[in-house]
Amino acid sequence: MSNRVQIFDTTLRDGEQVPGSQLTTEEKVVVAKQLEKLGVDIIEAGFPVSSPGDFNSVVEISKAVREPIICALSRAVPGDIDAAANALQYARRGRIHTGIGSSDIHIQHKFNTTREKILERAITATKYAKTKVEDVEFYCEDAGRADLVFLAQLVEAVIGAGATVVNIPDTTGYCLPEEYGSKIKYIFENVSNIHKAIISIHCHNDLGLATANSIAGISQGARQVEVTINGIGERAGNTSLEEVVMALTVHKELGLETGVNTQFIYPTSQLVSKMMRMPVQANKAIVGRNAFAHSSGIHQDGFLKHQLTYEIMNPQDVGVDKSDIVLTARSGRHALKHRLELLGFSFDKPALDELYTRFLEVADLKKEVNDADLVDLARTAIPVE
Ligand code: KIV
Ligand code: ZN
Repeated sequence: MSNRVQIFDTTLRDGEQVPGSQLTTEEKVVVAKQLEKLGVDIIEAGFPVSSPGDFNSVVEISKAVREPIICALSRAVPGDIDAAANALQYARRGRIHTGIGSSDIHIQHKFNTTREKILERAITATKYAKTKVEDVEFYCEDAGRADLVFLAQLVEAVIGAGATVVNIPDTTGYCLPEEYGSKIKYIFENVSNIHKAIISIHCHNDLGLATANSIAGISQGARQVEVTINGIGERAGNTSLEEVVMALTVHKELGLETGVNTQFIYPTSQLVSKMMRMPVQANKAIVGRNAFAHSSGIHQDGFLKHQLTYEIMNPQDVGVDKSDIVLTARSGRHALKHRLELLGFSFDKPALDELYTRFLEVADLKKEVNDADLVDLARTAIPVE
């Protein structure tokens, strides 16, 4: 089995479904070009049948972006598949992503039909999409809550009909990591033609488990993972690209790799956040403002002695300039001394102790002590040359 995990970015499709985050075609092209620079393998550019604007975005992205595969979403109906195929006409490598509900909840309440009819519709849609493009991905919507035996039957049927990739989405973010991993394992063990397709992971974050579930699925043999920048997406969002990529990068013992140029992660996160008007939470893994900031005295002291004490990756590896020592009322003398030295001041121990006492008085009144505050404090003390 290959050790290369394909990164399927759906920021511009599932990510863009967030209310208030819609982008114009021009903005989508800018993001798509940045994703190409980042090194993703597949860009899901939109859902062409949904609106003329989305159709046009898939057309323009197909023209502007040459390296990644360009993917267009469709439901398992001919009109959607036609729209997806037309929108992809300029793509160097185009993929249609079609699919249908796979859980009984979806089959009964959304489609008002039976498992047998779903199998028929899935096969028909896959075969029809195959008449348009060679590369057809099939999604088994709500696979996270689907009956496992039926899910395996559906996967086998669509691979038989020509699907090159089969997506096993945890659409509602319901699964626990072990449970999701077991589903993927079951599929590998019970689908006879599994070697003819790539299994894809697509998790939502309703329980905050999207990244953990995605890693569990990859560990069981899935070789494509569907992600968004900053984890944006419906409700609590999708699996975040930066978290999966860095988990695989940091945990070398997994023996897995991606094609992502990780130093473009932070600039891409900033671009998407600004364009989609979605601020990144300060403590967001990898790309949050505090992801490489140290503010407590114990951590600052350890970090200043050796970076590895409190960091598991270099900020530069993800495109962040440097780690940050934030001075607050929880900071210690070591951090204060370090920052004063950066500002050009050095003090002997008694002077530093005295300064530290006054620093705490200021810090107790402020969320963060900045460089201007420190210069004021330092000027009232006597510098030692
Ligand atoms: O979450 C989901 O099931 C989806 C599919 C349309 C792939 O986004
Ligand atoms: Zn989704």
